[in-house]
Amino acid sequence: MYDVNDINPFAKRIYLASPTMHGDELKYMTAAYESNWMSTLGENIDEVEREVARLTGRRRAVALSTGTAALHLAMKLSGITRGTRVFCPTLTFAATVNPVVYEGGVPILIDSERDTWNMDPELLEEAFEKYPDVRHVVAVDLFGTPGKLKEIKEICRRHGAAFIEDAAEALGSLFEGAMAGSFGDASAISFNGNKIITGSSGGALVTDSDEDADLARKLSTQSREAAQWYEHETYGYNYRMSNVVAGVIRGQIPYLAEHIEKKKNIYERYKKGFAGLPLEMNPYDGARSEPNFWFSCATVDRDFMAPQTRNGRDVTYEKVSGKTCPTEIIEALAANNAEARPIWKPMHIQPVYRDCAVVEGAVSEDIFARGVCLPSDVKMTEDEQDRIIDVVAKCFG
Ligand SMILES: Cc1ncc(COP(=O)(O)O)c(C=O)c1O
Repeated sequence: MYDVNDINPFAKRIYLASPTMHGDELKYMTAAYESNWMSTLGENIDEVEREVARLTGRRRAVALSTGTAALHLAMKLSGITRGTRVFCPTLTFAATVNPVVYEGGVPILIDSERDTWNMDPELLEEAFEKYPDVRHVVAVDLFGTPGKLKEIKEICRRHGAAFIEDAAEALGSLFEGAMAGSFGDASAISFNGNKIITGSSGGALVTDSDEDADLARKLSTQSREAAQWYEHETYGYNYRMSNVVAGVIRGQIPYLAEHIEKKKNIYERYKKGFAGLPLEMNPYDGARSEPNFWFSCATVDRDFMAPQTRNGRDVTYEKVSGKTCPTEIIEALAANNAEARPIWKPMHIQPVYRDCAVVEGAVSEDIFARGVCLPSDVKMTEDEQDRIIDVVAKCFG
Protein backbone atom coordinates (compact mmCIF):
# COMPACT_ATOMS: atom_id res chain seq x y z
CA MET A 1 0.00 0.00 0.00
CA TYR A 2 1.15 3.47 -0.85
CA ASP A 3 2.54 5.30 2.19
CA VAL A 4 2.32 9.09 2.24
CA ASN A 5 5.54 9.30 4.29
CA ASP A 6 7.48 7.91 1.32
CA ILE A 7 6.77 11.02 -0.71
CA ASN A 8 6.12 13.73 1.85
CA PRO A 9 9.28 15.85 2.12
CA PHE A 10 7.91 17.34 5.36
CA ALA A 11 7.19 13.99 6.99
CA LYS A 12 9.44 14.67 9.94
CA ARG A 13 7.46 17.74 10.96
CA ILE A 14 4.62 16.91 13.33
CA TYR A 15 1.44 18.64 12.27
CA LEU A 16 -1.69 19.69 14.08
CA ALA A 17 -3.78 17.73 11.58
CA SER A 18 -2.59 17.01 8.05
CA PRO A 19 -4.29 14.90 5.39
CA THR A 20 -3.84 11.13 5.84
CA MET A 21 -4.22 9.39 2.50
CA HIS A 22 -4.66 5.67 2.01
CA GLY A 23 -4.50 5.05 -1.74
CA ASP A 24 -8.21 4.58 -2.48
CA GLU A 25 -8.46 8.33 -3.05
CA LEU A 26 -6.20 8.00 -6.09
CA LYS A 27 -8.37 5.17 -7.47
CA TYR A 28 -11.52 7.33 -7.46
CA MET A 29 -9.71 10.45 -8.72
CA THR A 30 -8.26 8.36 -11.54
CA ALA A 31 -11.73 6.98 -12.33
CA ALA A 32 -12.98 10.59 -12.66
CA TYR A 33 -10.06 11.38 -14.96
CA GLU A 34 -10.37 8.28 -17.11
CA SER A 35 -14.12 8.65 -17.53
CA ASN A 36 -13.66 12.40 -18.16
CA TRP A 37 -16.10 13.34 -15.39
CA MET A 38 -13.73 16.19 -14.46
CA SER A 39 -16.62 18.41 -13.52
CA THR A 40 -19.22 19.09 -10.85
CA LEU A 41 -21.19 16.01 -11.89
CA GLY A 42 -20.29 12.36 -11.56
CA GLU A 43 -20.39 9.10 -9.67
CA ASN A 44 -17.99 10.25 -6.92
CA ILE A 45 -20.30 13.13 -6.01
CA ASP A 46 -23.36 10.86 -5.97
CA GLU A 47 -21.57 8.38 -3.73
CA VAL A 48 -20.27 11.09 -1.35
CA GLU A 49 -23.80 12.44 -0.98
CA ARG A 50 -25.13 8.97 -0.17
CA GLU A 51 -22.36 8.26 2.33
CA VAL A 52 -22.39 11.66 4.06
CA ALA A 53 -26.16 11.42 4.51
CA ARG A 54 -25.61 8.02 6.11
CA LEU A 55 -22.74 9.24 8.34
CA THR A 56 -24.81 12.14 9.65
CA GLY A 57 -28.06 10.22 9.95
CA ARG A 58 -29.87 12.52 7.49
CA ARG A 59 -32.16 11.95 4.52
CA ARG A 60 -30.07 14.11 2.21
CA ALA A 61 -26.59 15.54 1.74
CA VAL A 62 -25.66 18.16 -0.84
CA ALA A 63 -21.97 18.09 -1.85
CA LEU A 64 -20.48 21.60 -1.96
CA SER A 65 -17.16 23.31 -2.54
CA THR A 66 -16.53 24.12 1.15
CA GLY A 67 -18.01 23.88 4.63
CA THR A 68 -18.39 27.66 4.56
CA ALA A 69 -20.57 27.35 1.44
CA ALA A 70 -22.68 24.76 3.30
CA LEU A 71 -23.13 27.15 6.23
CA HIS A 72 -23.96 30.00 3.88
CA LEU A 73 -26.66 28.01 2.09
CA ALA A 74 -28.01 26.66 5.39
CA MET A 75 -28.39 30.24 6.59
CA LYS A 76 -30.02 31.35 3.36
CA LEU A 77 -32.49 28.45 3.56
CA SER A 78 -33.33 29.36 7.15
CA GLY A 79 -34.42 32.83 6.00
CA ILE A 80 -31.60 34.98 7.37
CA THR A 81 -31.69 38.26 5.51
CA ARG A 82 -30.78 41.93 5.95
CA GLY A 83 -31.09 42.90 9.60
CA THR A 84 -31.91 39.37 10.90
CA ARG A 85 -30.42 38.89 14.35
CA VAL A 86 -28.77 35.49 14.82
CA PHE A 87 -27.46 33.86 18.01
CA CYS A 88 -23.97 32.49 17.29
CA PRO A 89 -21.23 30.94 19.42
CA THR A 90 -18.38 33.31 20.18
CA LEU A 91 -15.77 30.56 20.64
CA THR A 92 -15.41 29.22 17.13
CA PHE A 93 -13.69 29.63 13.79
CA ALA A 94 -14.85 32.76 11.94
CA ALA A 95 -16.52 30.65 9.23
CA THR A 96 -19.34 29.82 11.68
CA VAL A 97 -20.32 33.48 11.86
CA ASN A 98 -19.20 35.06 8.57
CA PRO A 99 -22.09 33.68 6.47
CA VAL A 100 -24.59 35.46 8.76
CA VAL A 101 -22.99 38.69 7.59
CA TYR A 102 -22.91 37.58 3.92
CA GLU A 103 -26.72 37.68 4.13
CA GLY A 104 -26.77 41.02 5.94
CA GLY A 105 -27.65 39.39 9.26
CA VAL A 106 -26.43 40.61 12.65
CA PRO A 107 -24.63 38.12 14.90
CA ILE A 108 -25.33 38.16 18.63
CA LEU A 109 -22.49 36.23 20.24
CA ILE A 110 -23.01 33.77 23.07
CA ASP A 111 -20.40 32.51 25.49
CA SER A 112 -19.31 28.90 26.09
CA GLU A 113 -20.04 26.49 28.90
CA ARG A 114 -17.05 25.05 30.76
CA ASP A 115 -17.98 21.40 30.28
CA THR A 116 -17.77 21.20 26.46
CA TRP A 117 -16.48 24.68 25.46
CA ASN A 118 -19.58 24.95 23.24
CA MET A 119 -22.53 27.35 23.37
CA ASP A 120 -23.93 27.48 26.91
CA PRO A 121 -27.63 26.50 26.73
CA GLU A 122 -28.40 28.54 29.86
CA LEU A 123 -26.96 31.64 28.21
CA LEU A 124 -28.92 30.83 25.05
CA GLU A 125 -32.08 30.81 27.15
CA GLU A 126 -31.04 34.12 28.71
CA ALA A 127 -30.37 35.52 25.24
CA PHE A 128 -33.94 34.64 24.16
CA GLU A 129 -35.25 36.54 27.21
CA LYS A 130 -33.16 39.56 26.24
CA TYR A 131 -33.84 39.37 22.49
CA PRO A 132 -37.25 37.65 22.18
CA ASP A 133 -37.57 38.51 18.48
CA VAL A 134 -34.62 36.27 17.47
CA ARG A 135 -35.56 33.24 15.34
CA HIS A 136 -32.17 31.85 14.25
CA VAL A 137 -29.47 29.98 16.16
CA VAL A 138 -26.12 28.66 14.93
CA ALA A 139 -24.11 26.36 17.22
CA VAL A 140 -20.81 24.58 16.65
CA ASP A 141 -19.37 21.21 17.74
CA LEU A 142 -15.97 22.64 18.64
CA PHE A 143 -12.86 20.57 17.89
CA GLY A 144 -15.18 17.62 17.22
CA THR A 145 -16.83 17.70 20.67
CA PRO A 146 -20.63 17.93 20.55
CA GLY A 147 -22.21 20.59 22.72
CA LYS A 148 -25.48 20.03 24.59
CA LEU A 149 -27.24 19.57 21.27
CA LYS A 150 -30.51 18.23 22.66
CA GLU A 151 -30.93 21.16 25.02
CA ILE A 152 -30.04 23.68 22.32
CA LYS A 153 -32.44 22.08 19.85
CA GLU A 154 -35.21 22.04 22.45
CA ILE A 155 -34.66 25.72 23.33
CA CYS A 156 -34.83 26.55 19.60
CA ARG A 157 -38.07 24.56 19.27
CA ARG A 158 -39.66 26.38 22.22
CA HIS A 159 -38.77 29.75 20.74
CA GLY A 160 -39.74 28.83 17.19
CA ALA A 161 -36.15 29.37 16.03
CA ALA A 162 -34.35 27.69 13.15
CA PHE A 163 -31.25 25.77 14.27
CA ILE A 164 -28.14 25.45 12.13
CA GLU A 165 -25.50 23.02 13.40
CA ASP A 166 -21.94 23.78 12.36
CA ALA A 167 -20.61 20.22 12.49
CA ALA A 168 -17.67 21.15 10.22
CA GLU A 169 -15.16 19.64 12.68
CA ALA A 170 -17.34 16.83 14.00
CA LEU A 171 -17.97 14.21 11.32
CA GLY A 172 -18.40 10.88 13.12
CA SER A 173 -19.01 12.35 16.60
CA LEU A 174 -22.06 11.20 18.54
CA PHE A 175 -24.37 12.90 21.03
CA GLU A 176 -26.65 10.52 22.93
CA GLY A 177 -26.19 8.01 20.13
CA ALA A 178 -27.17 10.46 17.34
CA MET A 179 -24.60 11.59 14.78
CA ALA A 180 -23.19 15.12 14.80
CA GLY A 181 -24.86 16.91 11.92
CA SER A 182 -28.23 15.30 12.67
CA PHE A 183 -29.44 18.05 15.02
CA GLY A 184 -29.76 21.19 12.89
CA ASP A 185 -32.65 21.93 10.55
CA ALA A 186 -29.67 21.99 8.24
CA SER A 187 -26.10 21.21 9.30
CA ALA A 188 -22.69 21.75 7.72
CA ILE A 189 -19.71 19.40 7.34
CA SER A 190 -16.23 20.40 6.13
CA PHE A 191 -13.71 18.30 4.20
CA ASN A 192 -10.91 20.87 4.10
CA GLY A 193 -7.30 19.73 4.39
CA ASN A 194 -7.12 19.54 8.18
CA LYS A 195 -10.43 17.76 8.79
CA ILE A 196 -10.77 14.18 10.06
CA ILE A 197 -11.38 13.09 6.48
CA THR A 198 -10.58 15.44 3.65
CA GLY A 199 -11.09 16.02 -0.03
CA SER A 200 -8.33 18.70 -0.01
CA SER A 201 -11.35 20.98 0.18
CA GLY A 202 -15.10 20.39 0.16
CA GLY A 203 -18.18 20.55 2.30
CA ALA A 204 -21.69 19.23 2.61
CA LEU A 205 -25.05 20.56 3.71
CA VAL A 206 -27.14 17.86 5.36
CA THR A 207 -30.86 17.95 6.08
CA ASP A 208 -33.98 15.78 6.29
CA SER A 209 -35.91 18.14 4.01
CA ASP A 210 -35.98 17.15 0.33
CA GLU A 211 -37.23 20.62 -0.50
CA ASP A 212 -34.28 22.31 1.26
CA ALA A 213 -31.76 19.88 -0.24
CA ASP A 214 -33.11 20.51 -3.74
CA LEU A 215 -33.05 24.26 -3.17
CA ALA A 216 -29.49 24.15 -1.79
CA ARG A 217 -28.42 22.21 -4.86
CA LYS A 218 -30.07 24.72 -7.16
CA LEU A 219 -28.52 27.70 -5.33
CA SER A 220 -25.11 25.99 -5.55
CA THR A 221 -25.35 25.83 -9.35
CA GLN A 222 -26.18 29.50 -10.07
CA SER A 223 -29.94 28.96 -9.47
CA ARG A 224 -30.58 27.72 -12.95
CA GLU A 225 -34.26 27.04 -13.69
CA ALA A 226 -35.49 24.02 -15.65
CA ALA A 227 -35.46 25.55 -19.13
CA GLN A 228 -33.57 24.91 -22.34
CA TRP A 229 -31.67 28.21 -21.98
CA TYR A 230 -30.11 29.68 -18.85
CA GLU A 231 -33.14 31.03 -17.01
CA HIS A 232 -32.68 32.63 -13.57
CA GLU A 233 -35.48 33.74 -11.27
CA THR A 234 -33.04 34.45 -8.46
CA TYR A 235 -29.29 34.79 -8.08
CA GLY A 236 -27.19 31.78 -7.15
CA TYR A 237 -23.65 30.66 -6.40
CA ASN A 238 -20.95 28.45 -7.85
CA TYR A 239 -20.73 26.23 -4.78
CA ARG A 240 -20.92 22.68 -6.16
CA MET A 241 -18.25 20.10 -5.26
CA SER A 242 -15.91 18.86 -7.99
CA ASN A 243 -16.09 15.19 -8.93
CA VAL A 244 -12.29 14.98 -8.47
CA VAL A 245 -12.50 16.34 -4.90
CA ALA A 246 -15.42 13.95 -4.31
CA GLY A 247 -13.11 11.10 -5.42
CA VAL A 248 -10.69 11.97 -2.60
CA ILE A 249 -13.52 12.13 -0.04
CA ARG A 250 -15.01 8.87 -1.34
CA GLY A 251 -11.64 7.19 -0.86
CA GLN A 252 -11.32 8.62 2.67
CA ILE A 253 -14.77 7.69 4.00
CA PRO A 254 -13.97 4.03 4.75
CA TYR A 255 -11.13 5.26 7.02
CA LEU A 256 -13.22 7.59 9.18
CA ALA A 257 -13.55 5.05 12.03
CA GLU A 258 -9.81 4.34 11.93
CA HIS A 259 -9.00 8.07 12.06
CA ILE A 260 -11.34 8.56 15.03
CA GLU A 261 -9.73 5.65 16.86
CA LYS A 262 -6.23 7.07 16.26
CA LYS A 263 -7.29 10.55 17.38
CA LYS A 264 -8.95 9.15 20.49
CA ASN A 265 -5.75 7.31 21.31
CA ILE A 266 -3.78 10.55 20.86
CA TYR A 267 -6.17 12.36 23.24
CA GLU A 268 -5.88 9.62 25.85
CA ARG A 269 -2.09 9.43 25.60
CA TYR A 270 -1.87 13.20 26.16
CA LYS A 271 -4.17 12.87 29.14
CA LYS A 272 -1.96 10.16 30.63
CA GLY A 273 1.25 11.93 29.66
CA PHE A 274 0.12 15.16 31.32
CA ALA A 275 -0.87 13.47 34.60
CA GLY A 276 0.90 15.35 37.36
CA LEU A 277 1.25 18.49 35.24
CA PRO A 278 -1.04 21.49 35.75
CA LEU A 279 -2.77 20.93 32.42
CA GLU A 280 -6.33 19.94 31.61
CA MET A 281 -7.46 18.38 28.34
CA ASN A 282 -10.41 19.84 26.39
CA PRO A 283 -13.43 18.46 28.26
CA TYR A 284 -16.34 16.35 26.99
CA ASP A 285 -19.23 14.62 28.66
CA GLY A 286 -18.41 10.93 28.25
CA ALA A 287 -21.83 9.87 29.57
CA ARG A 288 -23.63 11.71 26.76
CA SER A 289 -21.21 12.08 23.86
CA GLU A 290 -18.48 10.36 21.88
CA PRO A 291 -16.37 13.02 20.16
CA ASN A 292 -14.27 12.30 17.08
CA PHE A 293 -11.29 13.86 18.94
CA TRP A 294 -10.40 15.93 15.88
CA PHE A 295 -8.13 18.21 17.95
CA SER A 296 -6.54 17.48 21.29
CA CYS A 297 -6.28 20.70 23.27
CA ALA A 298 -5.12 21.57 26.77
CA THR A 299 -5.49 24.50 29.14
CA VAL A 300 -2.81 25.54 31.61
CA ASP A 301 -4.14 25.68 35.19
CA ARG A 302 -4.65 29.27 36.33
CA ASP A 303 -2.11 29.09 39.16
CA PHE A 304 0.58 27.90 36.76
CA MET A 305 0.08 30.52 34.06
CA ALA A 306 3.13 32.67 33.34
CA PRO A 307 1.86 36.20 32.68
CA GLN A 308 1.41 36.89 28.97
CA THR A 309 0.71 40.29 27.50
CA ARG A 310 -1.03 41.02 24.22
CA ASN A 311 -0.05 44.21 22.53
CA GLY A 312 -1.83 44.51 19.20
CA ARG A 313 -0.88 41.29 17.42
CA ASP A 314 2.24 40.67 19.53
CA VAL A 315 2.21 38.40 22.55
CA THR A 316 5.00 38.39 25.08
CA TYR A 317 5.29 36.36 28.25
CA GLU A 318 7.42 36.31 31.35
CA LYS A 319 9.74 33.39 32.05
CA VAL A 320 8.64 32.25 35.48
CA SER A 321 10.04 29.14 37.11
CA GLY A 322 7.46 26.32 37.26
CA LYS A 323 4.98 28.24 35.09
CA THR A 324 4.15 28.46 31.41
CA CYS A 325 1.53 29.78 29.00
CA PRO A 326 0.19 28.79 25.55
CA THR A 327 2.61 31.14 23.79
CA GLU A 328 5.62 29.46 25.37
CA ILE A 329 4.28 25.97 24.62
CA ILE A 330 3.64 26.88 20.97
CA GLU A 331 7.13 28.35 20.63
CA ALA A 332 8.76 25.37 22.34
CA LEU A 333 6.95 22.95 20.03
CA ALA A 334 7.83 25.04 16.97
CA ALA A 335 11.48 24.87 17.99
CA ASN A 336 11.05 21.09 17.94
CA ASN A 337 9.47 21.09 14.48
CA ALA A 338 5.96 20.47 15.77
CA GLU A 339 2.89 22.54 15.05
CA ALA A 340 0.60 23.88 17.78
CA ARG A 341 -1.64 26.92 17.90
CA PRO A 342 -3.89 28.89 20.22
CA ILE A 343 -7.54 28.00 20.72
CA TRP A 344 -9.85 29.95 18.37
CA LYS A 345 -9.86 33.59 19.41
CA PRO A 346 -13.46 34.40 20.45
CA MET A 347 -15.44 36.38 17.90
CA HIS A 348 -16.49 39.10 20.36
CA ILE A 349 -12.86 40.17 20.78
CA GLN A 350 -12.06 39.99 17.04
CA PRO A 351 -11.73 43.45 15.47
CA VAL A 352 -14.30 42.53 12.82
CA TYR A 353 -17.00 41.47 15.33
CA ARG A 354 -16.16 43.53 18.40
CA ASP A 355 -19.20 45.79 17.90
CA CYS A 356 -21.58 42.80 18.06
CA ALA A 357 -23.67 42.28 21.17
CA VAL A 358 -22.33 39.50 23.36
CA VAL A 359 -24.00 37.46 26.09
CA GLU A 360 -21.27 37.04 28.74
CA GLY A 361 -17.86 36.19 27.22
CA ALA A 362 -15.52 35.56 30.15
CA VAL A 363 -15.43 31.76 29.74
CA SER A 364 -14.37 31.80 26.09
CA GLU A 365 -11.80 34.53 26.80
CA ASP A 366 -10.37 32.41 29.60
CA ILE A 367 -10.18 29.28 27.40
CA PHE A 368 -8.47 31.35 24.70
CA ALA A 369 -5.98 32.82 27.19
CA ARG A 370 -5.01 29.48 28.73
CA GLY A 371 -5.58 27.02 25.89
CA VAL A 372 -3.45 25.45 23.21
CA CYS A 373 -4.27 23.09 20.31
CA LEU A 374 -1.72 20.28 20.30
CA PRO A 375 -0.42 18.16 17.43
CA SER A 376 -3.28 15.75 16.68
CA ASP A 377 -2.13 14.26 13.40
CA VAL A 378 -3.40 10.76 12.62
CA LYS A 379 0.09 9.80 11.39
CA MET A 380 1.88 10.90 14.57
CA THR A 381 3.75 7.93 16.09
CA GLU A 382 3.75 7.19 19.83
CA ASP A 383 7.46 8.14 19.96
CA GLU A 384 6.68 11.47 18.32
CA GLN A 385 3.85 12.10 20.73
CA ASP A 386 6.11 11.25 23.66
CA ARG A 387 8.49 13.91 22.32
CA ILE A 388 5.64 16.44 22.30
CA ILE A 389 4.65 15.53 25.87
CA ASP A 390 8.25 15.89 26.96
CA VAL A 391 8.60 19.34 25.35
CA VAL A 392 5.36 20.51 26.99
CA ALA A 393 6.44 19.15 30.40
CA LYS A 394 9.75 21.01 30.14
CA CYS A 395 7.84 24.30 29.71
CA PHE A 396 6.97 24.01 33.42
CA GLY A 397 10.67 23.69 34.32
C1 LIG B 1 -15.96 25.26 13.01
C2 LIG B 1 -15.75 25.42 11.53
N1 LIG B 1 -16.76 25.94 10.80
C3 LIG B 1 -16.66 26.09 9.48
C4 LIG B 1 -15.51 25.73 8.80
C5 LIG B 1 -15.43 26.02 7.35
O1 LIG B 1 -15.14 24.91 6.58
P1 LIG B 1 -14.35 25.10 5.18
O2 LIG B 1 -12.92 25.38 5.52
O3 LIG B 1 -14.54 23.79 4.50
O4 LIG B 1 -14.99 26.22 4.46
C6 LIG B 1 -14.44 25.17 9.53
C7 LIG B 1 -13.20 24.71 8.90
O5 LIG B 1 -12.43 25.35 8.28
C8 LIG B 1 -14.56 25.03 10.92
O6 LIG B 1 -13.55 24.53 11.64
